[in-house]
Amino acid sequence: MAGNWKMYKTPRETAAFFDSFNHLAENITNCDIVIFPPAISLTTAVAVTHATHIQIGGQNLYPGKDGAFTGETSGEMFRSAGATWVLVGHSERRHVVAHETDAEVLKKTQAALTYGLTPIVCMGEKQEEHKNGKADEVLIKQFAGGVAGLTEEQFSQIVLAYEPVWAIGTGLVATPEIAENAHKLIRAEAEKRFGQEAAQAVRILYGGSVKPDNVEGLMHESDLDGVLVGGASLDPDSFIKIVMAA
Ligand code: PGA
Repeated sequence: MAGNWKMYKTPRETAAFFDSFNHLAENITNCDIVIFPPAISLTTAVAVTHATHIQIGGQNLYPGKDGAFTGETSGEMFRSAGATWVLVGHSERRHVVAHETDAEVLKKTQAALTYGLTPIVCMGEKQEEHKNGKADEVLIKQFAGGVAGLTEEQFSQIVLAYEPVWAIGTGLVATPEIAENAHKLIRAEAEKRFGQEAAQAVRILYGGSVKPDNVEGLMHESDLDGVLVGGASLDPDSFIKIVMAA
């Protein structure tokens, strides 16, 4: 159960969130709970969750250890700051802020694994592609150009996320049926490339307007292993209700 804070929450606001969330999440141990704060608030998040089972991740990384890349953060830096996860290929990075390609998504996924971070690799179709019945095609292409380039060993260490762009931040959640079909398709692609066992084992999250009142229907789907939540993860009471659906 993952919360992507995007460009929200200062270090002070981060500490305030965990002040109440740590307590609410205390007895929930049947799932991974991961929060992705902005990079500037990550060390605060790591420090205040130190004694809990809540895990912290970066929202993006630059491949490579270090170098002359102004404004970027490496996987090693995230790891040494206490992060254990990282988001890769979020649609806002693919389509809004950085025009990331599938090849870059693959490179970043490999870099995450090199530095001991668990990547959540995101994929999903845009609204127009959804309307034109092109969703499957887009997912197949993103899978082939991205994570299909991993080794079997690497693939066993990642988590995938289906995030239809038309559902992100719009309030238009995918129906459980749409989500399940997309997850099945991604799992089928995984099976073709990595075999049945690997395809069954990989966790696939759904993301896009997940809220306390729609999470249960989604979580009932057999190919949906968790959720990646934006807006509704910013409030401790709302995020804990979502986490409880696991
Ligand atoms: P949302 O964002 O829950 O606000 O739609 C999801 C995401 O971008 O991961």
